[in-house]
Amino acid sequence: MVARFGGEGGLGRRLQLYLLARQEKLDNWAVNYWLDDMYLKNDLALPVNSNPGMVFPPRRFTTILDVARFTARMIDAAVTHKAMLDRRELPIERATSREPGQPLCMAQYYRLLGSCRLPGKDRDSQHVAPQPSQSGGGELPTEHVVVACRSQLYCVPVQAPDRGRLNEDEICAQLLHILDDAPCLASPPPVGLLTGIQRNKWAEARETLCRDDRNRHNLELIARSLLVICLDEPLPTSFNCRLQKGGKGHNTGGRDETNLALQMIHGGGSSYNSSNRWFDKTIQLVISGDGACGLCYEHSSAEGIAVIQLVEKLYKHAEEGQTNEPPAPSSHLPPPERLEWNLEADDHRRIEEAANFLDNLVKDLDYQVFRFIGYGKDFIKSCKVSPDVYIQLALQLAYYRLYGKLTATYESASTRRFKHGRVDCIRSASPEALAWCQAMALPKEDEKKVTFHLVSDEIKLNLWNEAVKQQTKEMIDNILGQGIDIHLLGLREAAKETSPTASHPLPEIFTDESYRLANKFLLSTSQVATSDDTFMGYGPVEPEGYGASYNPKGSHIIFCLSAFWSSESTSSSRFAQSLEESLNGMKELLSRPQ
Ligand code: COA
Repeated sequence: MVARFGGEGGLGRRLQLYLLARQEKLDNWAVNYWLDDMYLKNDLALPVNSNPGMVFPPRRFTTILDVARFTARMIDAAVTHKAMLDRRELPIERATSREPGQPLCMAQYYRLLGSCRLPGKDRDSQHVAPQPSQSGGGELPTEHVVVACRSQLYCVPVQAPDRGRLNEDEICAQLLHILDDAPCLASPPPVGLLTGIQRNKWAEARETLCRDDRNRHNLELIARSLLVICLDEPLPTSFNCRLQKGGKGHNTGGRDETNLALQMIHGGGSSYNSSNRWFDKTIQLVISGDGACGLCYEHSSAEGIAVIQLVEKLYKHAEEGQTNEPPAPSSHLPPPERLEWNLEADDHRRIEEAANFLDNLVKDLDYQVFRFIGYGKDFIKSCKVSPDVYIQLALQLAYYRLYGKLTATYESASTRRFKHGRVDCIRSASPEALAWCQAMALPKEDEKKVTFHLVSDEIKLNLWNEAVKQQTKEMIDNILGQGIDIHLLGLREAAKETSPTASHPLPEIFTDESYRLANKFLLSTSQVATSDDTFMGYGPVEPEGYGASYNPKGSHIIFCLSAFWSSESTSSSRFAQSLEESLNGMKELLSRPQ
């Protein structure tokens, strides 16, 4: 099939010419195909399926003033950061390895504040904050944040042309007002739940809401806001209570890291904080009364790396120099606008359905933060292996030990060396990895009498070296723009665009079962490195699959592993167990005298 497609006279040749012509016309021929395929034409609900959650080190709050102060400092830092972006002063990053020094595209960094995904019936769209006018004039743009507290949304101005930028005390006073006001209200309709359902259903519901001027005004305020702040209630310690594997890490009020991570990923369901969210919003900072802090972010605008850099900066600023002084008396600022909704019976029914849907999704998520404390990237580097390559092979081995086979595996590889580049897919399930896993999974020599099944350490090491070589090549090919997935996607989309009729079938390489299987990523992974003791995770992308993010530190590795309870074949805790055994076995092999 491939030969027919790519050979002399094959359709592939014509489609390739089409892509080359597209490349001449556009800054990046691939990114819009990719954005549609990965996000905007994906109808799945955002929580669990798409939005990652990130946990910051918990704070110690004793009064609501502490909460308001800390939050005000984060907002203040966001406004400062946005002003810096508006001046286009963000330094350009450069690749540090593999052709070091190449400039990296910074476009994602400029899209984080003021952006929002908007639902559509066939395709979502993105609201991106307009660039401030280049003509100068020095006028401040109007800016605000939206604060969610007990499912009630408020609009807090942070900057206006007529009064300039609010100072930290003024923002703090606004937040204190919200923290006083929200608990006194009768439970407001949790409209935010609608952002957590399938996209086409939310699009329908939003269209109905928009018929009313007030609702439309609210939706516009939320979309245009710099970010959303979720002032949460803590999840109970019993929420999803299971024994967390590995090192203990953060703990607040008896809540372990898995419990904290779930608050960030989905909020805990409609009875807890899921109604205190706006899942469409690019940046949602979560701050809860017990000191748990983190982030839920909508993925279509940027990869985790850009988001982490921003939120770690905000967190650091808030953490340093925090006082518990009450704010100075307010400067005649009106209280923040409460967003009230005009809802019909149909809207209420949809919200109720959304609550049911989201609660089922929340219940189905089998999630596990696993701190592997045996070793970290210092040991791996001492073996002269790339830590990313090493961990990918550990994930392959963990999967193999459970299922006796490998599966299509996705690892995101940044392609920011290209203008508007996002990611391509490092495919870690290689024949070399399989050969090594097969050897590693055999019983140890001293445990088994039947000798013909045995593989010596020397052979295992040789197979390991081959697997490392292949995985390193695959990784470098991808980050240098030689991955296969984006190219195949381009050819597929080109086939659709050039097809004479809508009913014209796609070329057979895109309709064959092998293509479907190759894109059914039962293992969806990515390295999400952070500079602080924070971590980020996400759900699986297939009903029978695993999500696995990893954050390699010097002497340990933080994994976030996910699966669905509704799948009989998966289990995040069994995967964690298998991963631990794999990592230990690998160290044993590589530490033996050779
Ligand atoms: N021997 C010793 N050290 C090595 C080594 C080797 N053979 N190969 C690499 N190292 C070192 C590197 O120099 C680097 O050192 P540093 O910690 O001092 O900087 C470190 O190990 C890490 O390198 P490596 O493991 O190869 O990974 P990387 O940092 O180059 O990352 C990717 C690889 C694929 C993860 C990265 O290029 C990427 O694309 N990241 C984006 C992922 C993403 O999008 N995540 C978010 C999804 S939302």
